[in-house]
Amino acid sequence: MRGGVFRRLLVTYIIIMIISIGLLSVLMSQYLKVYFFNNKQEELTNTGRQVETQLIRYRRGDITREELEKQINVIGKVTNSRIIIVDGRSSGAAAANTGLDDDLETILKRVLDGEKVVRRQHFASELSTYVVAVGLPTGSANTRGAILLFSPVYEVDQALGRVYEIILITAGIALAVGLILVWVTSRRISRPVIELSRMAEQIARGEAVADAPGMADDEIGHLTRSFNYMKNRLSETDRMRREFIAGVSHELRTPLTSVRGFIQGILDGVICAEDREKYLRLAFDETNRLTRLTNDLLDLTKLEAGVIKLNKQVIELQELIDDSILTVCRSSGKDILASRVTVTPEDLSLQADPDRLKQVLINLLSNACRYTPDSGRIEVAAELTGSKVRILVKDNGIGIPAAELPFIFEKFYRIDKSRNSSAGGSGLGLSIVKDLVELHGGSITASSTAGQGTVFEIILPWGQ
Ligand SMILES: Nc1ncnc2c1ncn2[C@@H]1O[C@H](COP(=O)(O)OP(=O)(O)O)[C@@H](O)[C@H]1O
Ligand SMILES: [Mg+2]
Repeated sequence: MRGGVFRRLLVTYIIIMIISIGLLSVLMSQYLKVYFFNNKQEELTNTGRQVETQLIRYRRGDITREELEKQINVIGKVTNSRIIIVDGRSSGAAAANTGLDDDLETILKRVLDGEKVVRRQHFASELSTYVVAVGLPTGSANTRGAILLFSPVYEVDQALGRVYEIILITAGIALAVGLILVWVTSRRISRPVIELSRMAEQIARGEAVADAPGMADDEIGHLTRSFNYMKNRLSETDRMRREFIAGVSHELRTPLTSVRGFIQGILDGVICAEDREKYLRLAFDETNRLTRLTNDLLDLTKLEAGVIKLNKQVIELQELIDDSILTVCRSSGKDILASRVTVTPEDLSLQADPDRLKQVLINLLSNACRYTPDSGRIEVAAELTGSKVRILVKDNGIGIPAAELPFIFEKFYRIDKSRNSSAGGSGLGLSIVKDLVELHGGSITASSTAGQGTVFEIILPWGQ
């Protein structure tokens, strides 16, 4: 895998290098050529003016032809250029004598027409270097002559050679340094990735692994953090699953053991005939409890699997609360008529699944009922606050110790396992309540003062 990252980075790097070096060489050589050609052209033009001055002197008779030739020779040597002077009146002959090729002939023609002409050429065969040619017209229209100057631009080749050399050395150094950097970078990328995939394999095999190290503030660090988070969530889920199974087994075993004991006692004749009915009734209660437990478990499993779909409709809260109280009274055998219900506004209604919301209220009310002495008082209050509906279920029962409060919504959590086992609580009620409220987009909290009672507060979106 490291090879993969390294190779890819290296190829990318080399491509970038080739492109930039290529571009640099082309631009540099272009720039240098223009620079030296312009220089040379200016120089030749100046030389041409000097030659013209001598020519004028010769025409005026100030100097002899020999002197003119000598002067021009000197100028040519000093400036390293070849100078040809063409007299306008004998242009045809001069052209033939100089052996100018076609191109030069056209240059000459244009110069004799009074035009200044500049040419840059590469005479590969003759000089194997660049040559600049400048043609200057002299005299007036009827005594037109031409001064042609040629000079090689060796500097271009020299400078280009030097530039290529520098570029090549730079490229070599960049390649060496780049190779090291690419290698280091690819290691920095691939090492944590390799480490993470090794850990993922370990997790898949069910081995416990520590958090992955390295929290750089880049994508790799982000991946590592996500990976650690996922790993911890997985082990958390695993732990919860184990606990859940342990809880279920425990809850099932207790009633089953009782039922088995009663039946065995009856079969063995240990329980006398008069007591049989009493024990059968106890066994019946236990099976009821088992049924409730299995129903709760089914509900919870569906809720956690997210397969429960809410059947939302507009419901009158007053009616729903009254219904729930009635149901709890009937099943608990206790009369919670001491209760008080206040709904503001009186006709408050909201969008919710009536069956599920009733299930929530029944759960809370039966808890209130169960953990409050018969002389106690239970209150339900519902009100509209802004865009939320707030429902309170209050009792003045035994309350919940502050230390236990954070856990009561957990599965199988009961405060005193012994105090309510006979009443049939399995500790699933509040977790179902919480899941149902959250499914409605709401939240539930509990507050309590031990010995003085408990308040459950549900906040639901009002949605009409
Ligand atoms: N109104 C209440 N007053 C006092 N304790 C309560 C109240 N409601 C719930 N509890 C505590 O929270 C625990 C969890 O409640 P719940 O999940 O409904 O389980 P269950 O009712 O099956 O015991 C209960 O065992 C009880 O100890
Ligand atoms: Mg309960």
